[in-house]
Amino acid sequence: MTEILGRTDRDILRAAGMLRAGELVAFGTETVYGLGADATNGLAVAAVFEAKGRPRFNPLICHYESAEAAFADVLASPLAERLADTFWPGPLTVVLPRRDSSAVSLLAGAGLKTLAVRVPAHQVAQKLLAALGRPVAAPSANLSGRISPTSVAHVLAGLDGRIAAVIDSGECRVGVESTVVDLSGPVPILLRPGGVSFESLQSSVASLQRRGDDGVAIKSPGMMAAHYAPGLPLRINVTEVRRDEALLAFGAPLAGARVMFQLSAAETLNEAAAKLFEGLHWLDEQGVALGLMGIAAMPVPEHGLGLAINDRLRRAAAA
Ligand code: TXA
Ligand code: MG
Repeated sequence: MTEILGRTDRDILRAAGMLRAGELVAFGTETVYGLGADATNGLAVAAVFEAKGRPRFNPLICHYESAEAAFADVLASPLAERLADTFWPGPLTVVLPRRDSSAVSLLAGAGLKTLAVRVPAHQVAQKLLAALGRPVAAPSANLSGRISPTSVAHVLAGLDGRIAAVIDSGECRVGVESTVVDLSGPVPILLRPGGVSFESLQSSVASLQRRGDDGVAIKSPGMMAAHYAPGLPLRINVTEVRRDEALLAFGAPLAGARVMFQLSAAETLNEAAAKLFEGLHWLDEQGVALGLMGIAAMPVPEHGLGLAINDRLRRAAAA
């Protein structure tokens, strides 16, 4: 059963405690309800994908109490700082290069070198983030493929029984998702229209391009260019590992690899999802350092989070 919490300080502290313990809590923002997890906890982030039934790992937005807290995890350009001054707290998300020092789980950013960050304005979100003192990764609190929720009833219709709690935060003032702007490249690009209008953004960012405008590469999560693929070639569903390959293991490792990363010795899909990007990055580094020719990935069962893990492995293998 999903617990319905109120907006009192006591309930919000309780919700923060649940997040700290790795549980999932849906909460109101001024745009739509978010399905929150402690962004620094890979297992909790994996549970978000599981609860939503997402067949693939899309990068999630990380929510922060303040611009200062957000910019401790990403590298802010002068433009990013100006946008933060103008639009935060509020319905704007900016994509920026992730700092190496960031404790945010690689799964939250789907293994990308960038991170989407925002500072929500809703009182409940603000209080929850302040009480937790950590970033919260939160996609909209709906099942994959359904519309974004703007009330507790909407959240429960999709996620009742799949998440620990929902904070009854009242209504969402804006009612559509945040505007997403990519500031990580040479030109600022609007990736998703939302709560902050294109026109009001343009008054701050004269050079803003719409995604797909002439001459601008289309960059969206579904498009592979934006996604991480290891530098070494990847073979998947292997039953034998070659001497010159690094091994991505799931369960009892195949013998013969000089370097191995274990996704989950106990064959737990949630654990494997939480470690997937870390494993690929690490094996890539180690493999190159050791002069290996590739990465071999053991089979992962095709159910639950295994679908998303295999989707990502297949794309990386095809890259
Ligand atoms: O209003 C909102 O933004 C709500 C509330 C809960 O904050 N959240 C939300 O999250 O809509 P979600 O996961 O449904 O949408 C996140 C969007 C997706 O389009 C995703 O691809 C994009 O942000 N995104 C996240 N990280 C990205 C990155 N590193 N690069 C490019 N796009 C990114
Ligand atoms: Mg969504």
